[in-house]
Amino acid sequence: MRKPIILIMACFVLFGFQACQQNKEQKQAATVDTIQVTLDSADFSENINGAAVKLITLKNATGATAYLSNFGARLVGLLVPDQHGTLVDVVLGFDKASLYHNPEEPYYGTIVGPFGNRIANGKFKLDDEEYQLPTNNGKNTLHGGMEGVHFANWDIKEANGKVATFAYTLPDGKEGFPGPIHMEVTYSLSDNNELTISYKATTDKKTVVNLTNHAYFNLNGEGSGSILDHTLKLYADKITPVDSTLIPTGALQDVEGTPFDFRTSKTIGADIQADDMQLKYGKGYDHNFVLDGTKVDGLNHAATVIGDKTGIKMEILTEEPGIQFYSGNFMADRVTLKKGVKDSFRTGFCLEPQHFPDSPNQPNFPTTTLNPGETYTSKSIYKFTTNQ
Ligand code: BGC
Repeated sequence: MRKPIILIMACFVLFGFQACQQNKEQKQAATVDTIQVTLDSADFSENINGAAVKLITLKNATGATAYLSNFGARLVGLLVPDQHGTLVDVVLGFDKASLYHNPEEPYYGTIVGPFGNRIANGKFKLDDEEYQLPTNNGKNTLHGGMEGVHFANWDIKEANGKVATFAYTLPDGKEGFPGPIHMEVTYSLSDNNELTISYKATTDKKTVVNLTNHAYFNLNGEGSGSILDHTLKLYADKITPVDSTLIPTGALQDVEGTPFDFRTSKTIGADIQADDMQLKYGKGYDHNFVLDGTKVDGLNHAATVIGDKTGIKMEILTEEPGIQFYSGNFMADRVTLKKGVKDSFRTGFCLEPQHFPDSPNQPNFPTTTLNPGETYTSKSIYKFTTNQ
């Protein structure tokens, strides 16, 4: 807050009252462009997979609002205040539920599972039994396969304006995974603008689970252009480097001296064009960062991101050991988003708290195996403040 006041005062001294007033008005006009999109429940009450899906709204005392759909248990809109108190929709998505039911749709706001991220060659072994999954990303399986859980109509177990819980059972053998796997995802929005997502899963047969949310964020507001000037800090001193198909080699690589060093805040765009093999493989950032264990309230502090135009600051705290940072490299004007703009190159980024990619085939990575009788739990918090 102090900086704009100093700037306005300097402006008065240099250019006089009228010019500064105009400047101030232009600044305010700029924030109007990022103003809220209010989703209409009629557009989210369509029949998909032969059943009606619903729009669920969580709203807190400050007006911050999370819009959810039980189709994929998705986060379809998230209004949080910017530095002027204007509500800005910071997640990308569509204004109609059925638009999410499209194979061209790159997992906007959805829960991905039962195994988020890639599994090499769509294969893994549990107790000498080999499972072959359908492949949907070159020779690999990405985000649970063709249907995973993102095209499922989840049951709404609870929705009371502050908390919503969705449940879905993936039948045994669906998308090749042993199961059935019973999953539950709970979203809650606190009065201090924290969106918490909690996950639970149990299984009837030994299986693998890695659940996360796949929201694309733009903290300047959906439709406000490139994310390259956002500043990002990642609490990670290593990544899991990948091969050309984005499967981890199994090694851990220090970020020191590489474009992957986000331990001190820098813009997403600062080093994205660097001559680096990992960046070439990812066509930008598309990598799992190994969290360094910095704790806030007992959770791993994973990331701090700030939108350069709105000053909106998002912090991600998680129980997960890693976070996939994807800089929207495959976004290519394929679909039209809520605000009527295309999903242009790098106009959104994902930060997906999760276990490491291809863990079922990587004995040195933290395990993603879930046994019958055990309960998988995980929690991530997305906390919104402003950079004042
Ligand atoms: C992956 C990207 C992929 C994107 C959309 C991200 O989680 O890491 O490689 O393009 O999801 O599918």
